[in-house]
Amino acid sequence: MNLVDKTKKTFALTTPLYYVNDLPHIGSAYTTIAADVVARFQRLLGRSVLLVTGTDEHGQKIQRTAESKGLPPKKFCDEMSTGFISLWQLLEIKYDRFIRTTDPRHEALVKEFFQRVWSNDDIYLGQQKGWYCVSCEEFKEERELLEGHRCPIHPNKEAEWRDEQNYFFRLSKYQSQLEKLYQSQPDFIQPETRRNEVLNFVKQGLQDFSISRVNVEWGFPVPADPNHTLYVWFDALLGYVTALLEPDEEPNLENALAKWWPINLHLIGKDILRFHAVYWPAMLMSADLPLPERVFGHGFLTKDGQKMGKSLGNTLDPVALTRNYGADAVRYYFLKEIEFGKDGDFNEVRFINVLNADLANDLGNLLNRTLNMVKKYCAGNLPSITTEDIPIDNPLKVIGLHLGEQVKIAYEALAFNQACDAILKIVQASNKFIDEQAPWSLYKKGQQQATEAVLYAVLESVRLAAYLLSPVIPNISSDIYQQLGFEIDFNEQSQTAIVAPFDIHGTWGVLSGDQKLGDPRPVFKRIETPK
Ligand code: MSP
Repeated sequence: MNLVDKTKKTFALTTPLYYVNDLPHIGSAYTTIAADVVARFQRLLGRSVLLVTGTDEHGQKIQRTAESKGLPPKKFCDEMSTGFISLWQLLEIKYDRFIRTTDPRHEALVKEFFQRVWSNDDIYLGQQKGWYCVSCEEFKEERELLEGHRCPIHPNKEAEWRDEQNYFFRLSKYQSQLEKLYQSQPDFIQPETRRNEVLNFVKQGLQDFSISRVNVEWGFPVPADPNHTLYVWFDALLGYVTALLEPDEEPNLENALAKWWPINLHLIGKDILRFHAVYWPAMLMSADLPLPERVFGHGFLTKDGQKMGKSLGNTLDPVALTRNYGADAVRYYFLKEIEFGKDGDFNEVRFINVLNADLANDLGNLLNRTLNMVKKYCAGNLPSITTEDIPIDNPLKVIGLHLGEQVKIAYEALAFNQACDAILKIVQASNKFIDEQAPWSLYKKGQQQATEAVLYAVLESVRLAAYLLSPVIPNISSDIYQQLGFEIDFNEQSQTAIVAPFDIHGTWGVLSGDQKLGDPRPVFKRIETPK
């Protein structure tokens, strides 16, 4: 079956499908924000983008949590998945698909996939003995566990001993094919440190892993043997495929893979790297399907330097944080302050300082005072100015002419902090420029044209900064754009109509003098430091 047409210019990316045993935590928000930023940037480039997110609803962990709440699992999942949807709304996440693994269409796809792997003789019945962490939904090697067989990721939970008949997937058969993949596609796993982790793990020799469970009812029955329930990960990873179906399409692999496959980017946290960079490609190889292009494993967030956890009582609630400070603030802090791929920390004082410095002072005040000067010195607009009037060695023009390209490279490499830093440089240079050029005294001296040239260069730099930051802070960017007289809302980008394409808006010199500027109003209110 020829399932993929590689000539299509589409960009599909995924977040993990989040477990619904609990409310969304800041880690889920972090991955999803990053994915949304990538999707928004790709849309600005004019690509046809599909952002997939959703929830992973089967397995023992969910079954037990639902039981402990006295709810039937499906009802419990229905309630919990809405928590994710509303957080994504609050955070301005513009996803295209929200897949729930309990979606009836999903079962049809999982069955068909299972059948392909089964026909390839890659599934067999065997005895599974080992320590299982229900919170990870994963068997652990004895050597990985802490004292008392506690899981290193969930140190307050003991892994449980299992000795049962399970179906196994022949992962070991794919050892050399996987090694070839990592060699021939060095960018398959990013960043480099994660790639090395995977290479080391694979080098130790891959073992087959069990893909069915007994005594777990909440999941799909194994097609070949309904006494077994399919292992949650074997089911969940395929959620990425089911999500690609058009809403009314018949659920089969051919339909699901027709437009968006292979996925260009799986964004995940480092704890689920093995599933995405080892198990998943091997499963796809077995089913004879093309592989995703890239898996990026980001780091973990800590709070005030400490690992976050319910038992430690130091979790950071993304809903409360976003309600308090707004979507743009949360999005900006995590992407600007943390190198994507490395671990990073949340600290409320630092959070407030960064937002005040960058968004309220450097960016917000700059726009505000410049617009006020235009009002005062130029009766509200800059009629006689065009970009050609600004000399080529104007320091802002010098930075601005290369900024778009530089930022594009950073976004494509998922170096969000570098993108933000580069953008902030033109904002800071603009503040310096306006102070040095002192348009208020130029005006007093009657140098109208020089006054206008300074104000134009600054406003154009603010515009470019707002444009390039729009994937990260879409509300503030839209507000800035509107104050600069554009009828553009960066939250209204759609697949078919790109409101402000990168090849036009991503360069310096877009503002025209006769642009009708709006009334200045603060774009980001300074946050008071709590006592
Ligand atoms: N259901 C699986 C994924 C299946 S994908 C087919 C799962 N779900 S999860 O809800 O537990 O994981 C959510 C994501 O949050 C993972 O990418 C994980 O790395 C991330 N994080 C969990 N805690 C985190 C931090 N403290 N910091 C950053 N990300 C963290 O795994």
